[in-house]
Amino acid sequence: MNTNLSSSVPSQLETDCLVVVVLDRSEKDRSEKDRNEKDKPAPSLESSDAVVREAAKDVIASGEVTGKILETTLLHRPAGLKAKRLLLVGGGKAQDFSSMELRKLAGTAVRTLKSKSIRSFAFALPENGVATPEGVRAIVEGAFVGNFDPDYYKSDRKDQKIDAVTIVVQGDPKPLESALQAGRIVAESQNFTRDLVNEPSNRMTPTILAERAKKMAAEVGLKCEAYGADKIKELKMGAFWGVAQGSDEPPALIILRYEPEGAAKDVHLGLVGKGVTFDTGGISIKPADGMEKMKYDMAGAATMIGVMRAIALLRPKVKVTAIICATENMPSGKAQKPGDVQIAMSGKSIEIINTDAEGRLILADGLCYARQLGCTHLVDAATLTGAVVVALGYVNAGIFASNDQMFERFANANQQAGEKMWRLPLDDEYKEVIKSNIADMVNSGGRYGGAISAAMFLKEFAEDTPWIHLDIAGTAWMEEAKPWIAKGPSGIALRSLVEFVKGWSA
Ligand code: BES
Ligand code: MN
Ligand code: ZN
Repeated sequence: MNTNLSSSVPSQLETDCLVVVVLDRSEKDRSEKDRNEKDKPAPSLESSDAVVREAAKDVIASGEVTGKILETTLLHRPAGLKAKRLLLVGGGKAQDFSSMELRKLAGTAVRTLKSKSIRSFAFALPENGVATPEGVRAIVEGAFVGNFDPDYYKSDRKDQKIDAVTIVVQGDPKPLESALQAGRIVAESQNFTRDLVNEPSNRMTPTILAERAKKMAAEVGLKCEAYGADKIKELKMGAFWGVAQGSDEPPALIILRYEPEGAAKDVHLGLVGKGVTFDTGGISIKPADGMEKMKYDMAGAATMIGVMRAIALLRPKVKVTAIICATENMPSGKAQKPGDVQIAMSGKSIEIINTDAEGRLILADGLCYARQLGCTHLVDAATLTGAVVVALGYVNAGIFASNDQMFERFANANQQAGEKMWRLPLDDEYKEVIKSNIADMVNSGGRYGGAISAAMFLKEFAEDTPWIHLDIAGTAWMEEAKPWIAKGPSGIALRSLVEFVKGWSA
């Protein structure tokens, strides 16, 4: 998709469709006296162009347009406009309008228009509410995210896509060019991640994931190494191998390195991703119902690979290494069994209670390896537990942090990126449930607080290195389509992670 900026007067712009935001400027807190009066919307067109305002006047006056969030109204041959169409998109209450809403509106515009075979449009940046560079970025990001569809294998795939978006701004567009490019890089990386996650497990084996990472690394100038079972055994990654041993498909340990000149000497970020390309549960096998979804159990890995792509192109001055542990989790004659004891790379012993708690096993060795490589700060992303879905639903990803300072940095980045995440606790009391009779710990703490006990398990391997764990099991996959995004892989956490990494730039 082409993206560009224009400073022309919106009504003078020749385009297939001009998109303008409508906000509801009615007051949120009504005073005592008019409490009985029904909350009446006060739709306001967010453009100072009198010709555009005139063109939309009647439909707004009619009450058809309210400014309600994600409401869309398409007008044909709007009077006085050079645009062929005018799309009004509702942004909700003006007081609550931020770049998070704007991103969704851009995605909604893309999805509304592309389904009508329109190939290009112009989006007028709202003149109030969102700072200009931030707004440009949000529109670009939202548009790219909205342009993605997962129907790769449909033989009659229509390939309906928007080819070009113009962002209409006031004044000199030159200073906004870098915001546009940054938005593009991040959004294309997010879609790259979604591409990887979307593939079924027969087309996204650990080996293929490694090839895709290598190809991407060559394109953007990153170092990439990929190893198989021999290296995993040589490194004594007994927890990772315990999972991988049950599959005929070879595992992959993928390392991506970004080492820019001028980076701070004392910071080395380690990004660890769970890359289970299919999770059957192993011998503790999952029920058949819904098992097909376990192809997305490599979303954490895909996220970290996508983050590295964005970082390589944005070039912040900080050293970053991604460690991807990729394997299938299969039942077989070679598979590990409940009761087995595995010795992790760190030397700690693990009693396997449930072979379906495999993510934490591979990450245990991934985190340990990251420390061995000299990482000073660790972040992992994983579709780790069904329990995080019980706790936070499909709305928020779970954040766990061993260090408050690092959490503050991440929360800041998360806020900037406009992704929904919620911190969950890591009190020492939760460690009780992962005690073993026979080994240092068990790999499953049972149902209650399951997302937390999984995180407590990982913490044993992050040890004293500041660490953040993102459990994206409920958010990596959109269970249903939204106006701004297709059903399927979401690419969630990538934008927050990119923002977080940028925050360490020297
Ligand atoms: N990959 C699953 C977690 C998951 C669940 C991801 C739903 C996406 C959607 C993970 O490996 C798993 O099976 N976890 C178990 C752990 C349990 C056995 C302690 C779970 O959550 O049930
Ligand atoms: Mn599992
Ligand atoms: Zn899993």
